[in-house]
Amino acid sequence: MLFELWKHPRPAAPAFRHGGQVVVASHRLAREVLADRERFSAANALDAVVPIPTGPLRELAAHRFRLPATLANNDTGTHGPIRERYGEVFAPARVAALRPWLTGLARRAAAGVAFRLRAGEAVDLDAAVSSEIPLAALARLLDLDVSATAEVKRFSRAALELFWGDPTPERQRELAETVGPFHALLRGWAAESAGATRELFEEYGEDAATAALFFLLVAGQETTSQFLTLLLHRLVEEPTLLGFESAAIVEEGLRLLPPITSWRRVALRDTELDGVPVHAGDSVLVWLAAAGADEGVAECPAAMVPGQRGSRRHLAFGAGAHRCLGSQLSRLEAEVVVAELAPLLPRCETVTAPVSDRNLSFRMPGPLVVRLRR
Ligand code: HEM
Repeated sequence: MLFELWKHPRPAAPAFRHGGQVVVASHRLAREVLADRERFSAANALDAVVPIPTGPLRELAAHRFRLPATLANNDTGTHGPIRERYGEVFAPARVAALRPWLTGLARRAAAGVAFRLRAGEAVDLDAAVSSEIPLAALARLLDLDVSATAEVKRFSRAALELFWGDPTPERQRELAETVGPFHALLRGWAAESAGATRELFEEYGEDAATAALFFLLVAGQETTSQFLTLLLHRLVEEPTLLGFESAAIVEEGLRLLPPITSWRRVALRDTELDGVPVHAGDSVLVWLAAAGADEGVAECPAAMVPGQRGSRRHLAFGAGAHRCLGSQLSRLEAEVVVAELAPLLPRCETVTAPVSDRNLSFRMPGPLVVRLRR
């Protein structure tokens, strides 16, 4: 299994078999697989990569943990109406209206970091900047009262490790002990929810509303947090990039440092991808990071050149019917954070570079500790 795709060079073959699945690495094939619902389904999107043994499964079941098809893993007739509801929550106008508030958050975070750096401290930008802003924005748009920020972050990372990581059975048990109770808490939030989640609850039931919140709380903030840490690290290492507009920097970051390096589909029937036979039921791993750096996508595909032609042609947000609903939100968050930290980053040096855990899809970087240059 390709658990640390970011460590592998981009492969020459557009498609190949590896560890029991078909891997697709070219931009053309990646788009094709993501968008073709006749041949490929998103039903396996949230399946645990390492099967969960009976003990941890029992732990999850004790908390009535269920992930019925709702958003990312839903290729049934309910996907369209559910997506439409959340599409309104994350509509461009609602997202754009957050700009002044997000700018305030990012400015305060940047001021706090500057103060600590000037006092001679080494500061973890992951904790001080990346981790809280995306969750605060998500909670605001979903009208959730998320006061237990640290709890939500702990739960999200546990869920990403349990479903996409490479945990031992012992670790799976520990992770289930975090994910199960949190899922039970989400049931309560779903029952008391307003807006889109309330409508989902009434129309499709408690399990569907809880599953939607589960996915949104993980995908709707942890991804952007991870992206921010990866991008801030790159900017500390290569401050000349800060000469470009923030939005252009973010786009190149998404193309070359996507926080979700791969995403899965399952083949619905026997087919082939560039000569590689694919059998019904095969898992197809779409290597989003390789697709973004493919020849012909951008003028200099392997180099980070903000604003270059083709910069937006990446597949960091997937493609087709399941394309990310939060793309505008995460772009705005990242743009504002980069703009607010831009004056500070060239004066910083890395003390601890973020290290990513073993994971099939998510980068999950650890702390990014910086200090003022000496
Ligand atoms: C940099 C940050 C983010 C990245 C890289 C990202 C990436 C992705 C990817 C790769 C998919 C799967 C697309 C496919 O199957 O073709 C997806 C789906 C989704 N994302 Fe994001 N995402 C990010 C942030 C967000 C945010 C902030 C939200 C919500 C506020 C969000 C909500 C969703 C939803 C609801 C789906 C499922 C859509 C559907 O199945 O119809 N994402 N995202």
